Amino acid sequence: MRVVVLSWLLVSFPALLYGATEEIQLQHTNIDLHDKASLKRGARIFVNYCLTCHSASYMRFNRVGRDLGLTDQEVKENLMFVGEKVGDTMEVAMRSEDAKEWFYGVAPPDLSVVARSRGPDWLFTYFLSFYLDPSRPTGVNNLVFENVAMPHVLWDLQGWQKPKYKMEVYADGTEMQVIERLELATPGSQTEDEYRRTVRDLTHFLVYLGEPARLERERVGPWVLLFLGVFVVVVYLLNKEYWKDVE
Ligand code: HEC
Repeated sequence: MRVVVLSWLLVSFPALLYGATEEIQLQHTNIDLHDKASLKRGARIFVNYCLTCHSASYMRFNRVGRDLGLTDQEVKENLMFVGEKVGDTMEVAMRSEDAKEWFYGVAPPDLSVVARSRGPDWLFTYFLSFYLDPSRPTGVNNLVFENVAMPHVLWDLQGWQKPKYKMEVYADGTEMQVIERLELATPGSQTEDEYRRTVRDLTHFLVYLGEPARLERERVGPWVLLFLGVFVVVVYLLNKEYWKDVE
């Protein structure tokens, strides 16, 4: 009897779990912070489409410029619009109390370290997963962030996606309509491939924002290893030299 119950549990437990929380598969993106061209494109999208609502208060404009190889003048021309100084941090014009009112009680969070809390694959999937949902005040919902208060700000690039549903039958026999996939209903100005590249650039920039020192560390790293290598040889020779006299 015990064996029967146990095997029933083993067989049906995954199904029960599956019914309880339908996990969305995250889409994977390769992160390569040496790809400066991608980081620069990402920075431009960020200041054009995100900085109106979100801040990145731990980052200064001129630091971005330095890390991405832009002069102060280029930073001013490409990344700044509202008369900030290049030494300023990336703040929003909107006060967070106002923002809260406008976004149904949720203030847009600071994005300085969002890549560390969410991870690159989540961010990549998030920007690909907005879909039309007339029941939401913003008119959109998101597969990986249910009932998100953020509008689909990249709609002019991606266009609008609609969900395609399927019937899911659970272990206890109940049926429920779930989203099978998203389909492009109205195209935007970019093709699907171009939009994926845009979103990858943006994800790149957010990963960089979360850990700007990583660029520096990767640049310095090989030199540190080389120094340690040479140092080991010197120490070895010195050691041999000292012991020669003792022995
Ligand atoms: C019109 C204002 C607005 C703009 C523009 C905007 N967002 Fe948002 N964003 C929000 C709001 C509001 C939330 C909070 C959503 C919630 O908690 O339901 C949010 C949430 C997020 C989150 C989830 C944060 C978390 O971990 O909970 C990310 C990531 C994000 N935004 C990235 C971006 C990026 C990147 C851009 C630019 C492409 C952008 N947003 C543009 C309003 C905005």
